[in-house]
Amino acid sequence: MADQLWARIDDYLVDALVPPDRVLDHTLRAGVDAGIPQIQVTPTQGKLLYLLALAVGARKILEVGTLAGYSAIWMARALPPDGRLITLEVDSDNARVARASIRRAGLEDRIEVRLGPALETLPALEAEGAGPFDFVFVDADKENNPGYVAWALRLSRPGTVIVVDNIVRHGALIDAASDDASVRGVRAMFELIASEPRIEATALQTVGSKGHDGIAILRVKS
Ligand code: SAH
Ligand code: DHB
Ligand code: MG
Repeated sequence: MADQLWARIDDYLVDALVPPDRVLDHTLRAGVDAGIPQIQVTPTQGKLLYLLALAVGARKILEVGTLAGYSAIWMARALPPDGRLITLEVDSDNARVARASIRRAGLEDRIEVRLGPALETLPALEAEGAGPFDFVFVDADKENNPGYVAWALRLSRPGTVIVVDNIVRHGALIDAASDDASVRGVRAMFELIASEPRIEATALQTVGSKGHDGIAILRVKS
């Protein structure tokens, strides 16, 4: 019941605040047609990422977890013409579908999809001096969240903002005895954040068309 209300309110908010967009609609449809799971951020969340990237004046954005490219396209729209977004994806089918939608969006010169397990492509980014990134969105396999946040920090500068998706998982977050690797990963990430003096962070629960979940927002101290 509550879930239905949350979804209807999301519909209202999207109607009110997120204009119809052929490129983003096509990106979603391409994902459906390719049989990719529909787990991308919602339109209002995509717009939040876009607004946060704009607010920090991001010129370099890093994403961990591309899926079909929906959130990457939202964030890349906040970049100046010479800005860059690198998005990391382990699944070659997802990467292929994402690249096609990125090309269709006219963003192929701003977005690069890197194929491979992120814990292997992140060190490569450091080795080639790709950072520091101004804005990072962590949204891949949740069990590796501690590693992703540690890498985001290594590839950051003072003032970098890091957003982590799916921190509540329908409430599973607070089960300290959970043997779910995702829950353990999110909880270990919060322990890492708490012990990391260079990060200030908060987190918000969210409800909407994807049910009950949440995001963490981290900022690297100046
Ligand atoms: N950010 C996307 C949704 C990402 S879903 C959006 O909102 O539009 C999570 C993605 O992370 C999936 O595409 C999955 O294949 C990818 N993923 C899972 N494990 C990964 C890993 N080890 N390295 C890189 N990507 C991974
Ligand atoms: C899942 C992953 C996500 O990134 C998300 O936003 C929702 C669900 C999942 O793996 O189930
Ligand atoms: Mg997510």
